[in-house]
Amino acid sequence: MFYFGADYYPEQWPQERWPEDARLMKAAGFNVVRLAEFAWSKMEPSEGKFDFNWLDRALKTLHDQGIVALLGTPTASPPPWLMTNHPDIFRLREDGLRVTYGNRCEYCPNHPTYHDFTRRIVTALAEHYADHPEVIGWQIDNEMGNRCYCPVCRSKFQDWLKVRYGTLEKMNAVWGTEFWSHIYTDWTQIPVPLATGGSPNPGLALDFRRFISDSYVAYQQMQVDLLREACPDHLITHNFMGFGYEGLNYYDLARTLDLVSWDDYPAGFWLKDRRVTEPEALALGHDTMRGLKHQNFWVMEQQAGPSGWEIVSPTPRPGELRLWAYQSIAHGADGIVFFRWRTARYGTEQYWHGLLDHHGLPGRRYEEIKQMGAELKKVGAAIQGSSVKARVAILQSYDSRFAFQIQPNNPSFQYSEHVTHVYHALFNRNIAVDVISPQADMSNYMLVIAPALHVLDEAVAARLEQYVQAGGTLVLTPRSGVKDEANAVVNLPLPGLLAEVCGITVAEYDSLSADISQSVKFIASGLKKLGTCAARVWCDILEPAGAQVLAAYTADYYAGRPAITLNQYGKGQAVYVGTFGDVSLYQALFGWLVLKLNIPPVLNAPEGIEVAERWQGDRRLLFVLNHTNAPQKVSLPNGYINLMDGKVSHGEETIPGRDLVILASPSESAG
Ligand code: GLA
Ligand code: ZN
Repeated sequence: MFYFGADYYPEQWPQERWPEDARLMKAAGFNVVRLAEFAWSKMEPSEGKFDFNWLDRALKTLHDQGIVALLGTPTASPPPWLMTNHPDIFRLREDGLRVTYGNRCEYCPNHPTYHDFTRRIVTALAEHYADHPEVIGWQIDNEMGNRCYCPVCRSKFQDWLKVRYGTLEKMNAVWGTEFWSHIYTDWTQIPVPLATGGSPNPGLALDFRRFISDSYVAYQQMQVDLLREACPDHLITHNFMGFGYEGLNYYDLARTLDLVSWDDYPAGFWLKDRRVTEPEALALGHDTMRGLKHQNFWVMEQQAGPSGWEIVSPTPRPGELRLWAYQSIAHGADGIVFFRWRTARYGTEQYWHGLLDHHGLPGRRYEEIKQMGAELKKVGAAIQGSSVKARVAILQSYDSRFAFQIQPNNPSFQYSEHVTHVYHALFNRNIAVDVISPQADMSNYMLVIAPALHVLDEAVAARLEQYVQAGGTLVLTPRSGVKDEANAVVNLPLPGLLAEVCGITVAEYDSLSADISQSVKFIASGLKKLGTCAARVWCDILEPAGAQVLAAYTADYYAGRPAITLNQYGKGQAVYVGTFGDVSLYQALFGWLVLKLNIPPVLNAPEGIEVAERWQGDRRLLFVLNHTNAPQKVSLPNGYINLMDGKVSHGEETIPGRDLVILASPSESAG
């Protein structure tokens, strides 16, 4: 069954309304809801007094219409009585201030008292719902991840360091604590990197981010264990926040969950008089979330209307909500849950619009999603469980992202923007991409791009070397191989452990200001037609040691010096791109590279048309998505079957603006 539904808050509406909601949901083809992730106050109105009656009734009302539920464990939003009785649970922020009551996510993830209350509510819930047929699974907490700097965390951090390093000598050595006289002689002296301490030791600061990540992973695991014990057959997930979020190591957070789900908010924004939606950024989010477990995922919160707390974002144009939801499916979603069912009348999110407006009457957005519900009844089974197969991977490293948070290297450098540029160049060519962890198996990829792989340990360096040795093509960009695991700069010419594979060293580098323009010119024979591209933020001036020069800088004292190189190594090759550039640089370079490597696009299509594919065994499913406002002519492969209307495609077809087609190859053997 393809899961399709909404995030629903029955506790925020009178009970008399629930049957009407359930009826409208069923009419829209919904078969699932996520419930109760913020309902702790209703479940445990006072300490130790549990009340699940209201939730039982809501579940029953929904189930009468064939709708099942994932329940949230409500720990993202503790009740006032709990926080008033135990104010030491409030997180201490980086600036040294305690969070106060009034929002959500105000807890310290390490606090033993909070763990006790968590265990109690999760156990009560799990035992109560173990045998309820309405409940199929759980979402743990909600969008976890704020750092806490409280005394509990400080002492847990010290314990964590003891486990990691064993001895103070070892820790002092890898952090280089001779610098500024920070030699620790007792574990209890080690601080947390509060803002009041100024710029911290980079080794300490990176370890603190890892520690916080491990703290949430452990906090989640505590809940996973309780749920598995009582409800062994239920699905367990958490709602992640896509590519843009970099507070936790998402590979670790996903490891013991059954399923990754995430919250997809395209919204869009105005650029002067033009509305921009950036479908490539969403696609990158999907591909990153699919890569966390290397398996299909759900969207637990799919945008349902204009979003807003204090300010309201542009209204999704007719067709867009449906298009975005199909884009999620095209990239591997096996469940779509819209946030939220009905727009809240009260509370901070009064302007975060649901499928229904405040008044609760069905309107344009509801009808659009209802149409999708009817379509999924036809196509859902053909799609569900099919998978994405990519020959290109982008390697993303949370350690590197943490290190860049601590030291961005250049005020204009943003890891997420850089990776988005790299991704965008492939997205524009409709080339399928997996976003993978540095620990993932790379052997199936023809091309691996490791953008700004800043923190690099010996094991990953060795695996990258073997990948190239065995015939792979590796692309690196600036600031790769700069730091060891402890966030110390390597004692080697850059790119450090990868210099030999790349056949270059970085002779010097130049950190640019935002308004300086450098450029690189392709000079290798066969590449001159790629012309000149902007070089931004950073310029590595390369010294070839066997590599061929593809492009050179055009200005300043390093005019004519190598900027991009290619090195044959073993059976493969490594490209080093010495500057950050913008999308057009990667577009030019990858355009040439994918031709050379014979990596085909899913389909050639005009700009603004995204084509993605999933495979159901040998059967190829093509999703052709028109992200533009205008109709577009697309050449579709002959003989493919349109899954929505059953018609066979014959060459060119026109896809209306903000619309799509889903095609399947004619037989098991095709494609
Ligand atoms: C997040 C949360 C939701 C809601 C939406 C809209 O994704 O998970 O609870 O707050 O944002 O703000
Ligand atoms: Zn804390």
